[in-house]
Amino acid sequence: MTDATNVRILDQRTPEERDRPFLPGMGRTWLLPLYDIFTGVAGVRALHERAVERAGIQAGQAVVDVGCGTGNLSFAVLAAQPDARVTGLDPDGAALRRAARKARRRGVPLTLVQGYADRIPAEDASLDHVVSSLALHHVDDDGRVAFARDALRALRPGGRVTVVDFGGPAPDAEDADHPTHGHGPAHTLRHLPRLVRSRVSRSPAVARNLDDGIVALLAKAGFGDAREVEHVDHRFGRVTVVQATRP
Ligand SMILES: C[S@@+](CC[C@H](N)C(=O)[O-])C[C@H]1O[C@@H](n2cnc3c(N)ncnc32)[C@H](O)[C@@H]1O
Repeated sequence: MTDATNVRILDQRTPEERDRPFLPGMGRTWLLPLYDIFTGVAGVRALHERAVERAGIQAGQAVVDVGCGTGNLSFAVLAAQPDARVTGLDPDGAALRRAARKARRRGVPLTLVQGYADRIPAEDASLDHVVSSLALHHVDDDGRVAFARDALRALRPGGRVTVVDFGGPAPDAEDADHPTHGHGPAHTLRHLPRLVRSRVSRSPAVARNLDDGIVALLAKAGFGDAREVEHVDHRFGRVTVVQATRP
């Protein structure tokens, strides 16, 4: 499906993949309408801008945003570099439709592909950048390994992967072991960041990213220079920005 603003959604799933489960952005499909509100309040946009700045995308370069959800990292790429050629990849069709509506409203070109992180929609050695934000902890163990390998395949030599996600050293015991319990909506709202941080730090999905999990994942796939380039102490948890270059 393409339109005048050059926004299209392609379905790259195989028939078997149509029933393949995935962890949606808010953990539950029905919470999707709250995703942009929640991440807006949580200040996720600043994380996207940091990642895009680190990626250093140039005009005309081809970029795939893995686990793009409602498209916010893709839009940050296009805001910084309107002449980039951006494709967002996500298994969540409803999130992609939201991303497409937003792209049309903004009048920016965006290709959206319904599929999984382990099959990046690009020819071998054709991409300048693979970017991903807050998505890797949604991908299961096999999918993560396949993502790293496929990023290496799809990037040209010198092409770069930039991942921003919860990660780095495990959180301190206070956050992990003593979530705030309280009474009433006012109490809950006041302590929401701590409650979310506690949930994030206890999540088995996020645990895969901790202690340099993302760096190790990329290094094992063959990215020789995988490293954390910066981190952000977000109120919902430690966020790492990891980069690596295809040799
Ligand atoms: C927390 S959201 C992040 C969305 C967006 N990148 C952002 O920064 O706002 C995580 C996304 O990962 C997607 N996801 C889950 N499993 C996936 C998989 N196997 N491959 C690619 N994306 C996946 C979800 O559908 C969701 O859109």
